[in-house]
Amino acid sequence: MSLRVHAFLTTLFLTLLGAARSEDLSSLFYTTSTADHVQFADDGQEINLALDQKNASGFQSYDAYLFGLFNMRIKLVSGDSAGTVTTYYFTSFGERHDELDFEFLGNVSGEPIILQTNVFSNGIGGREQRIFLWFDPTIDFHNYTLLWNPWQIVFLVDGVPIRVFPNIEKEEGVPYLHNQSMKVFATIWDGDSWATEGGRVKINWENAPFVASYRDFSADSCSETSTMSANDCATTKWWSQLAYQALDVGQLDKLKWIQSNMTVYNYCTDVGRYNVTPPECRYNAPISTGLVAPSSSPSTPTSLPLVASPSSTPGASSLGPSGPPSSTAYLARHVSQLTPFFLILSLIFMVIE
Ligand SMILES: *[C@@H]1O[C@H](CO)[C@@H](O)[C@H](O)[C@H]1NC(C)=O
Ligand SMILES: *[C@@H]1O[C@H](CO)[C@@H](O)[C@H](O)[C@H]1NC(C)=O
Ligand SMILES: *[C@@H]1O[C@H](CO)[C@@H](O)[C@H](O)[C@H]1NC(C)=O
Ligand SMILES: *[C@@H]1O[C@H](CO)[C@@H](O)[C@H](O)[C@H]1NC(C)=O
Ligand SMILES: *[C@@H]1O[C@H](CO)[C@@H](O)[C@H](O)[C@H]1NC(C)=O
Repeated sequence: MSLRVHAFLTTLFLTLLGAARSEDLSSLFYTTSTADHVQFADDGQEINLALDQKNASGFQSYDAYLFGLFNMRIKLVSGDSAGTVTTYYFTSFGERHDELDFEFLGNVSGEPIILQTNVFSNGIGGREQRIFLWFDPTIDFHNYTLLWNPWQIVFLVDGVPIRVFPNIEKEEGVPYLHNQSMKVFATIWDGDSWATEGGRVKINWENAPFVASYRDFSADSCSETSTMSANDCATTKWWSQLAYQALDVGQLDKLKWIQSNMTVYNYCTDVGRYNVTPPECRYNAPISTGLVAPSSSPSTPTSLPLVASPSSTPGASSLGPSGPPSSTAYLARHVSQLTPFFLILSLIFMVIE
């Protein structure tokens, strides 16, 4: 009997743990447009954003984050998406804001969608890079990941590093993103004045609504709290350890492949725009650890894991909510804190048995 009870409780515990790790997106995000353009689907695991001639749409996070490992799975508008811009980005607010962008520029059917990324630090942006993807991003969901620790920011697509913004603030005076928490946003909007072939190809509204889907957001992150600075928090995390402070040789090879074979535009090589190459362009890694991470370390992974490590503290990603979360949102975000209770219960049954 006790064996069965124990098995039941263990299953319950694992189920709750699983539930806590793939959270209901409606507890993390709220819509920033009219409700009829945003659909929470698949039990809150997916959000569909629609663009039509009446309106654009979007959502944003309740919480603000300062350092973390974040993953969002996105499926882009299929068919003719020319002129549309679909985004997933992190930003703080104000004139000297920080921002990290993934922006997908639509195209007519069969022509490649471009992924544009950008980095703003301390209010300064103008760091656009554009690449073609090596798959059709409209057929399936793919992983768009940000690693953001005190050493580097890495943009990854399906685990492939497509861009690095190193912390070279001390060495080069380029402000790093380390003192402003950012919220997560997603939008789809009409960008046909510039997005597709420089604005020559316009939106064909006959194909509206244009729908982009987002799902399975995960965040293992830090935030400023009354007890700990985000920097101190970040240094305790697995995604800040040596292997994550710079790219390893295998990752650098992949980045070089992106830079030489997939790149459409790179501000670093736009001499007409910047007659002095921006300092960060000389680095694929923070200077303090050299250009290449210690590749001899046997524990150095060849590709970054994309989901929060199960060993990380459940619920840590929801520290310091800065929005006004609803009570159900609050409850959902703290469900994970109940799991130790079930573990203890389960252990008690083991002892009794
Ligand atoms: C479009 O959405 C905004 C909110 O994002 C709303 O204020 C506006 O009324 C909407 N326009 C229409 C025509 O529905
Ligand atoms: C994306 O990440 C998920 C985990 O969230 C993983 O199961 C999946 O294999 C990844 N897909 C790709 C194409 O990397
Ligand atoms: C944040 O750091 C930048 C340098 O990266 C500095 O210029 C700015 O004043 C700092 N802001 C705050 C609020 O500490
Ligand atoms: C759209 O397709 C055209 C033709 O293949 C290509 O030149 C362009 O880079 C593609 N992407 C965008 C966003 O314009
Ligand atoms: C770019 O593609 C070419 C042809 O497929 C290949 O030979 C070359 O090694 C690639 N460059 C990098 C840096 O991967």
